[in-house]
Amino acid sequence: MLTWLNHIAIAVPDLSKAAAQYKSLGANVSDPKDLPEHGVTVVFVTIPNTKIELMHPLGQGSPIEAFLERNPSGGIHHLCFEVAEIGEAADKLRDIGVRVLGDGTPKLGAHDKPVLFAHPKDFQGALVEFEQI
Ligand code: CO
Repeated sequence: MLTWLNHIAIAVPDLSKAAAQYKSLGANVSDPKDLPEHGVTVVFVTIPNTKIELMHPLGQGSPIEAFLERNPSGGIHHLCFEVAEIGEAADKLRDIGVRVLGDGTPKLGAHDKPVLFAHPKDFQGALVEFEQI
C-alpha cells in the first residue's frame, strides 16, 4: 500500500522566516496557502525526492496550536505517504487495528487530493497522513 513519501510536515512559529530559510538554501518554495478546513496555512518546499510542508496555525482552535505551545521553536508534526486509493487505505488501516482520525472519511488535503490521518497511538507515536495520488 505504501509507495512514495510525499512530504514531511513541520509546524513553525514564523512561516515567512521558515520559508526564507529554505529559500536561502536554494530550495523551490511555494507561496503560502490557507487551508481553513485544516486550520493551517502551509508553504511547500520541493526538493528532488520529497517535499517539506511548513505549517502555521490559521484561525481559532487550529489543530497545531497546542503542538506549537509544547514545541515553541517548531517541530516535525507528521509525515505523509502516497497511496493509490484512499478508501482501500482506510480499510487496510482498520484491518490492522489502526484508528483513522476524525469521522474516518477522507478530507481534501493541501494538494486538493483526498487524505486521512492515522492515530499516532496506533502508529509508533508518529502522526501519519495518507494521500491519494
Ligand atoms: Co501533510
